[in-house]
Amino acid sequence: MDTQPVLVTDRLLLRPFDVADAPVVQRLCGDYAVAATTLLPYPYPDGLAEVWIASLSEGIERGEAAAFAVTVPPEGNLIGGVRLQIDRVHARGELGFWVGRPCWGRGYATEAVGAVIEYGFSVLGLHRVYAVHFSRNPASGRVMEKCGMLREGRFREHVRKWGVYEDVDVWGIIREPAFRTGTRIPSPL
Ligand SMILES: CC(C)(COP(=O)(O)OP(=O)(O)OC[C@H]1O[C@@H](n2cnc3c(N)ncnc32)[C@H](O)[C@@H]1OP(=O)(O)O)[C@@H](O)C(=O)NCCC(=O)NCCS
Repeated sequence: MDTQPVLVTDRLLLRPFDVADAPVVQRLCGDYAVAATTLLPYPYPDGLAEVWIASLSEGIERGEAAAFAVTVPPEGNLIGGVRLQIDRVHARGELGFWVGRPCWGRGYATEAVGAVIEYGFSVLGLHRVYAVHFSRNPASGRVMEKCGMLREGRFREHVRKWGVYEDVDVWGIIREPAFRTGTRIPSPL
């Protein structure tokens, strides 16, 4: 059974989600601006946050996902989330992330996503981390670029969002043989 650690960055603490986070998740993800560039529903229904948070533990325990609540010390306010969907066969993870609109533009997404990429490589032993974003959402691509990911291409009309087929851009990063630490990390996968 896999468990998940707390990740600490310069300004953030990334911890597992707790059902007590549900009201804040509903408020932040219920923002039209967040729903518009993700596959989240709008309006965000009552009860969905509780169900979503409860559903995370199964994937984490099976080693098929990691999901971090992004919080700002010392108050510990929840401002966002980063999730990694893990494909163990291919040792790769797909990132998804969001930050609540009041906290946009402060570099928080970049800091949190960078920490989860490092976690994916150095702890989970992933070989590749990738993510997609709506092509009309360049801020997300910029976060990926700042995290060292490369833009690999565009899937045309890959996703249907609110009845409209949307292009998505694909970004990825491959673990270097000596990722960050200078030491080759054996893969547990
Ligand atoms: C995308 C998102 C995560 C960015 O969060 P954030 O904390 O504001 O991100 P950061 O501050 O780390 O970086 C944002 C970067 O995008 C840039 N940016 C913002 N709007 C932009 C735009 N319209 N075009 C190009 N770049 C833009 C910012 O200037 C910044 O880059 P810089 O540091 O070079 O100036 C946040 O807006 C969000 O949660 N959006 C809704 C959900 C979503 O889209 N999630 C991603 C799905 S893949």
